[in-house]
Amino acid sequence: MDNYFGMKISDFLERYEGRLRNQGSALDIGCANGAESLYLASLGLNVTGIDIMLPDNLPSSLNIHWLKEDILKFDFPKNKFNVIVAFNVLQFLDLKNRNIILDNISQALSPGGLIFIKSFTQKAPVSSDEKEMGPFLENELLDWGKKQNLHILEYQEKEIESSVLPISDYTHGIVFFAAEKSREQNMMM
Ligand SMILES: C[S@@+](CC[C@H](N)C(=O)[O-])C[C@H]1O[C@@H](n2cnc3c(N)ncnc32)[C@H](O)[C@@H]1O
Repeated sequence: MDNYFGMKISDFLERYEGRLRNQGSALDIGCANGAESLYLASLGLNVTGIDIMLPDNLPSSLNIHWLKEDILKFDFPKNKFNVIVAFNVLQFLDLKNRNIILDNISQALSPGGLIFIKSFTQKAPVSSDEKEMGPFLENELLDWGKKQNLHILEYQEKEIESSVLPISDYTHGIVFFAAEKSREQNMMM
């Protein structure tokens, strides 16, 4: 089956275009076909797109570094990225690793940096196996953001029809999270 993921830029990210332009460096976790990475690069950011199953035919671009790697093995640099995107990927990690990656994301964000997460919630028909994995509980990501002292720009939980795969008769609970790391956060830690 073709990989349908990462083919289309998320409207969620596009709405922040004004804030994203020329923001420095970005990390796109689970970039798949790279729609978000390419979009961020087109806005002048230097992008690292990482995916464990990175397709071979991604376009080369001066300001994108494609990395075929398991995010669990990625050595997150501290305070490095001005923008971090994790769309539709955290739910595939088990809970322990998902929470480790979340904390790594927060630390890897530079002061004043922006973080965008889109992920499944449990408010949808997920199997009991999937519940052991990373779909978020109600308000879980919001509470995490507050605990990290992030300034929440947007938080929404919605149920939407699947639109990516060629199957449209089921819905997914999705959480949309956008936040900014305080510029003073480093001094407080
Ligand atoms: C559903 S796709 C999402 C792609 C794209 N971000 C989007 O929103 O359309 C999930 C991607 O996460 C990648 N992925 C899953 N587990 C991963 C891991 N441990 N490390 C890196 N990438 C992973 C998969 O290979 C897949 O390409």
